[in-house]
Amino acid sequence: MTTIKDSWKNKGYIDEPIPEGIDLATAIRQMCKEKNAVILAHYYTEGALQDVADFVGDSLALAQKAAATDADIILMCGVHFMAETDKILCPDKRVLIPDLNATCSLAESCPADEFAAFVKAHPGHKVISYVNTSAATKAVTDVVVTSSNARQIVESFPKDQPLIFGPDRNLGSYINSITGRDMLLWNGACHVHERFSVEKLVDLKKQYPTAKVLVHPECKGPIVKLADVVGSTAALLKFAIHSDCDTFLVVTESGILHEMQKQAPDKTFIPVPPDDSTCGCNECNFMRLITLAKVYNTLRYEWPEVQVDPEVAKAAIRPIERMLDISKQLGL
Ligand code: 13P
Repeated sequence: MTTIKDSWKNKGYIDEPIPEGIDLATAIRQMCKEKNAVILAHYYTEGALQDVADFVGDSLALAQKAAATDADIILMCGVHFMAETDKILCPDKRVLIPDLNATCSLAESCPADEFAAFVKAHPGHKVISYVNTSAATKAVTDVVVTSSNARQIVESFPKDQPLIFGPDRNLGSYINSITGRDMLLWNGACHVHERFSVEKLVDLKKQYPTAKVLVHPECKGPIVKLADVVGSTAALLKFAIHSDCDTFLVVTESGILHEMQKQAPDKTFIPVPPDDSTCGCNECNFMRLITLAKVYNTLRYEWPEVQVDPEVAKAAIRPIERMLDISKQLGL
């Protein structure tokens, strides 16, 4: 039985040096085999992680994969709410995340107690929560959505049903605009998608006049207005692969470019920069906390492990399963 050092617990990850001469990717795949572990990775993680993972996907696909796996261990290369969702769906499995500090600004922008009070202050409303929320916030939700299914799930409610949508005000107002609904919005946002620069996007459009603009709906309204396509990471990827166009301005976290380039090597993908940097990429600092070395140590010591309070999990599983059921019915 391995002892988990106090220093690791304090840091929230294992900082053990990697044995010299080791090929991390090979060693990770070997441990996955020995331990019957599966690695799930989001498109926003660094390319080396996407390459070592068993499955790479958007938030919806990651939840669907977790729900269907027969592995004993799920290792989530992503942020904390993703691992929590896996644990809620698979309470009997061990769910590992390589760094407990990998949180999500959207989930943090919606403290469960404040959201519960907001819900209580608006009786008669059904509550729709983006998957980027804590388990405790999901526990006071009627149905969870991702950016892949938000429109369809909102439209599954009768038009006269008052709705609350949290926590992303940008995704919420985008869905309001395309569905003609008037959902009450929680005032949260993703710190990565909020910082894209309209000016820099306009300049790039002038520089690449035939390029298609791919935008994630967590971006602010003025950015969304400049989009040729608005969609989840998986939807943007699919469009880029199948489009006749060969140049794309990508307005989402720049990790997605790895898979775009891999699946469409002859096309050109240009990451749109944030307004506060001179570098070309807009990276999520939380996603970037996950590294190959941390994945290696996490598999080796089977820690950090994500736990969810069973009472919270019992309440949170309903809206997640509702989302998965609706998505299945819709063929998503
Ligand atoms: P999707 O992968 O569902 O598009 O969501 C992006 C995101 O917000 C991940 O945190």
